[in-house]
Amino acid sequence: MKNSDALGANEIVELIFTYLTEVSSLRDYDDVMFVLANMGRSLTSADRCSIWLVSDDKKSIWTKVSHGMDTVELPIDSGIVGSSVINGEKIILDDVYKDRRFNQKIDTQTGYLTKSMMVIPMFNNSNETIGALQVINKKSEKGTFDKRDLERLSLASIYAAETLISAKLSKDIQETEKEVILTMGSIGESRSEETGNHVKRVAEYSKILALAWGMNETEAELLKQASPMHDIGKVAIPDAILNKAGVLNTYERQIMDTHAKLGFDMTKNSDKPLFKAAAIVAHQHHEKWDGSGYPKGLKGEEIHIYGRITAIADVFDALGTDRVYKEAWSDEKIFNFFKEERAKHFDPTLIDLFFKNLDEILSIRETLKDKYIELEHIKQDMHQIKILGAYGTKSKGFGTSSFYLNSKNVIDAGNLLDSLQEASIDVENIWLTHSHLDHIADIAYILDNYFSLRSKTLNIMALPETIKVLKENFLNDSIWPDFSVIPMFNAKEMALKYTEIELCKEYKIGQNESIRAFETDHTVASCGYIYKKDEQAILITADTYSLDSMIHEVQNDKSITTIVVECSFPSSMKELAIESKHLTPELLFSKLKKLKRDNVKLYINHIKPIFLKEIRKEVEDLSGKWKPIVLKDNDFINF
Ligand code: C2E
Ligand code: SIN
Ligand code: SIN
Ligand code: SIN
Ligand code: FE
Ligand code: FE
Repeated sequence: MKNSDALGANEIVELIFTYLTEVSSLRDYDDVMFVLANMGRSLTSADRCSIWLVSDDKKSIWTKVSHGMDTVELPIDSGIVGSSVINGEKIILDDVYKDRRFNQKIDTQTGYLTKSMMVIPMFNNSNETIGALQVINKKSEKGTFDKRDLERLSLASIYAAETLISAKLSKDIQETEKEVILTMGSIGESRSEETGNHVKRVAEYSKILALAWGMNETEAELLKQASPMHDIGKVAIPDAILNKAGVLNTYERQIMDTHAKLGFDMTKNSDKPLFKAAAIVAHQHHEKWDGSGYPKGLKGEEIHIYGRITAIADVFDALGTDRVYKEAWSDEKIFNFFKEERAKHFDPTLIDLFFKNLDEILSIRETLKDKYIELEHIKQDMHQIKILGAYGTKSKGFGTSSFYLNSKNVIDAGNLLDSLQEASIDVENIWLTHSHLDHIADIAYILDNYFSLRSKTLNIMALPETIKVLKENFLNDSIWPDFSVIPMFNAKEMALKYTEIELCKEYKIGQNESIRAFETDHTVASCGYIYKKDEQAILITADTYSLDSMIHEVQNDKSITTIVVECSFPSSMKELAIESKHLTPELLFSKLKKLKRDNVKLYINHIKPIFLKEIRKEVEDLSGKWKPIVLKDNDFINF
């Protein structure tokens, strides 16, 4: 059997469409769940897939659907699925028997041998966990699941969650199908940071224009449902091009432009009127009235009315929203552009109708505004931080140390800009561990990039020695401007301020949130931090050699549930590690022996990317009772 590593994006989409078509012929939610489990299994080439639900009293989880076994019920606080559900965490395990959370009871009873496993929690609209999708035993030579499988299973989990929510509300199954199709349409978008509201807006704008043009209600509604799929072909465009932060070069542009034809190919074989309409929309939404568009260079009324309408809806929305590659345009600029492009890019009649119906269009835009879920995910009631940069040196695709605590507070400034982009404007306090470049570099760039947009002073919270170094050697008007004497563009206060922190003192940084520093051992003055929310805390060590002070903190503060410790070099480079006061896996795990608590979770960061494989392997071999997780950029930690 073919494993999913070998499946191309096209085949994946085909698979999804096949299942979707199957789903849409069903009339019963239980059958839908069963088809979705099959879809999860095929998409990831797993041997089995189960859909688990949280019981009404929230005390247990049970299998709604499950390949190869009867319904099973487990206490919610047991097992790997339980852990995923409770922590809202995605889990990938190569060998479940190496994980102490694994509940072996089912295997013992059924005689089935579970090895690799992947679990994705499902949430309802209020962000409560309602269950989880679980796949077991990857059918490939390697036998383990990877990040791509995770992405694919996420698709199935989105549908499953949507279906469950609808079933609960006793919604019409047809209604659910519409929701699922909207979600489908956003696949192409979902890898960029947008929420999927783009496709919903395009749908509504298209219907308004269709009705204004004289289309009957039934057909206008069909176009409304089909237009969200205009960019479905983008799933086949590599991430590096789709999410490139800058202008595409000629080669990349050629690849990008294939999304129209690809989308057509993906949808054209269906007999359903909806997909037939979607095929037209996908194919023709980049054609232009004057014949200068793609893929075919069709002209005027040669372009199907669905294509001409979606073109206006799509471009209007694209121009008005931020994209990875550009900022949103002002309305004035957009309207001028539309007037300019009347009878060039766009059908002149439709442009006139667009302006006639502008009020209605703008009101839709307001109702379906984008919410930037990426950061709002970090909900106030959750104990979660985001890793903005996880590595010990900068390299393509690897960011250096930075931790996002809440919208105003971060620890270290190695990689604020790449991860946060505009959200970095809101950062008010950077809590520095020490003065090495990989921990401070983005102080320079967030001030520079967003100088005209910031209205709050940026506070550098650091040890006196660290501040001295920054003043003398970094923001000194030679390497970079001394922002502490430059007033902000929008306010009279200075752009930057230094605040000396005291070790062991608790600073309040939000409701029920505090941070305190403890001294660590590195080649320059340095500290680690304990970030506490309610009665739970996470300790971040930062660069260090001796772990004594960290161990002291963890022994004495039982609210610490989680620690992050560095591991810069492989054990073979012990000398360099010691000299630069860093750790290797060998040093790390031998030093951790002194820590006499075992209910703490261990995360590892600050790896030098070129040693990533070697260090991961060593960590796996040497970790003993620890089940450490090696952090990557953009990971979340729940503590
Ligand atoms: P999209 O971002 O959804 O944009 C859809 C269409 O809106 C574009 O089709 C274009 O007609 C219009 N549009 C969007 N932004 C601008 C802009 O800043 N100026 C002008 N004049 N028109 C704009 P187009 O050009 O065929 O692009 C199709 C898709 O290709 C875009 O979808 C986007 O995903 C991608 N793309 C285009 N240019 C770039 C780029 O420079 N960098 C990256 N990363 N992607 C790009
Ligand atoms: C796929 O998972 O194959 C589609 C996404 C991509 O091409 O990166
Ligand atoms: C677990 O979640 O730990 C056990 C459940 C299973 O084996 O499917
Ligand atoms: C650092 O402390 O991360 C910089 C020094 C080194 O990598 O050896
Ligand atoms: Fe497009
Ligand atoms: Fe460092």
